[in-house]
Amino acid sequence: MPIVPMKQILDEAIKGEYGVGAFNVNNMEQIQGIMQAASETKSPLIIQASRGALKYTKMLYLKYLMVAAAEDNPDIPIALHLDHGNNFETCKQAIELGFSSVMIDGSLKEDSKTHTTFEENVEVTAKVVEYAHKFGVTVEGELGTLGGIEDGVGSGSILLTDPADAERFVKLTGVDALALAIGTSHGAYKFKQAPVLAMDIISEVKKRLPDTPLVMHGSSSVPESLVDIINKYGGNIQHAMGVPIKSIQEAIKRGVKKINVDTDGRLAITGAIRKYMAEHPEVIDPRDYFGEARKAVYETVKSKMIDFGTAGHAGDYKPKTLSDMIEIYKSKQK
Ligand code: G3H
Ligand code: 13P
Ligand code: ZN
Repeated sequence: MPIVPMKQILDEAIKGEYGVGAFNVNNMEQIQGIMQAASETKSPLIIQASRGALKYTKMLYLKYLMVAAAEDNPDIPIALHLDHGNNFETCKQAIELGFSSVMIDGSLKEDSKTHTTFEENVEVTAKVVEYAHKFGVTVEGELGTLGGIEDGVGSGSILLTDPADAERFVKLTGVDALALAIGTSHGAYKFKQAPVLAMDIISEVKKRLPDTPLVMHGSSSVPESLVDIINKYGGNIQHAMGVPIKSIQEAIKRGVKKINVDTDGRLAITGAIRKYMAEHPEVIDPRDYFGEARKAVYETVKSKMIDFGTAGHAGDYKPKTLSDMIEIYKSKQK
């Protein structure tokens, strides 16, 4: 199946009332583990690369791994998405690389730390939308900021999304999908006690923008089982806490359609490699422990595809091309 515009994947998720995981990738084993999960559960999916991932892989390597994933799985709709683009140039670069979707995170300045004003966010987001839509590429924007600072993305203070601003923002910019800040953050240490999320914000935004797929960043669940493996085999992860699956399912019901997951993949890989190395001190073949890491990613992602309700939906629709999207965007302008 060709690489599919993310807008189609998310619009179909609105129709089918399910969520779609957007999984961060940095290497072949992650991509293969995720694809095996998608293929077995027949799930459409979004593979996303951060700026850090593009730098680590010198861009081209990651691009061809993603293209290989699409070629190897002709029955699975896959969107290739830039995660947290920090300026117009980064988004342009991702579009040139062949991504079918980009996120412009205009809620923060280019340093990915300082808050922008509403007007600054609208300005950069609208510029990216105008450019991306000429190529049929989907755009995700963000309003409000997450709280996490663990991974270098995030301002360190939470600014929840105002639903009235969200409505104005989508109308002024023309974004295809909107990331909301409802109290989640990136990384493994999201909460100090039982998580409280501002679910009402999702419902209120959905009421105002029924056709706009909403996005939840910082959606890793940080399962105890994964943390325990890491700690059992020499790691030191204390007081980690994520978003419970039940909360994600509620968010999906209320209107979230794209669910961003990076940390759980990292935990799965780290635990699998630590365990394998500890149990096989004689091993020097990286295929052995990277193979275990791939399996751990597969298991983690597979359970999410089932829990998010994505499983079984890969064959629901005929994929659109970016050329189809160019015409669709043009006709909307008339
Ligand atoms: O949004 C944050 C993702 O977890 C990406 O993290 O910038 O370390 O690749 P990264
Ligand atoms: P987690 O750190 O919860 O996996 O969130 C990832 C994310 O939002 C990527 O954009
Ligand atoms: Zn994010």
